[in-house]
Amino acid sequence: MSNLTILERPWPLLLLLTLATLGCQNHSPSPTETRATAEQNASAGAGLATADQSADLYDALGKRDGIERLVEDLMHFIVDDKRIAPQFKGLNVERFHSNLSDQICELAGGPCQYEGMAMTESHHGITETQFNALVEDLILAMEKNGIATGTQNRLLAKLAPLHPAIVDR
Ligand code: HEM
Repeated sequence: MSNLTILERPWPLLLLLTLATLGCQNHSPSPTETRATAEQNASAGAGLATADQSADLYDALGKRDGIERLVEDLMHFIVDDKRIAPQFKGLNVERFHSNLSDQICELAGGPCQYEGMAMTESHHGITETQFNALVEDLILAMEKNGIATGTQNRLLAKLAPLHPAIVDR
């Protein structure tokens, strides 16, 4: 899968950025927050969080196994991505894989609970450009896993409210 795919089909990114911009308007992160569920993280970043109306998103992502494969592929794309790989130097790979899988699983309506750090705690000095790079890598990983475009967009929409808690410069 080449980068061309992203250039030919920029609208998932546009969707994400539009939602992220909306999210910025209501952002009020708590500096004392150290742990949070994925949904709490999402609603901390935006007034967009609503009751999950897409219970089958979890199924469409291939349930827990599919999500774990997706996250593993995402991590490979990140390591190969010169734009953001340096940020992940020294990362506890196992912990990242497990926590990100939990987070995506929970946001997708699956039977998981994210128990990692709040996004404001685990991300410092992340730029808009770096955030977009990671989203591009996620799209590449979703393409690699044969995830349909509609499903990709639904996951991106679930992640969009996290944007204000992750990007801080
Ligand atoms: C949609 C965007 C993103 C999501 C959903 C996300 C999600 C996560 C999650 C769930 C963790 C695990 C926290 C924990 O283990 O307690 C994490 C950690 C981390 N993220 Fe992100 N992240 C995103 C964007 C980024 C970007 C753009 C960067 C840098 C370019 C980044 C760098 C890191 C690093 C370095 C850690 C490890 C922090 C640590 O263990 O101390 N993330 N992220």
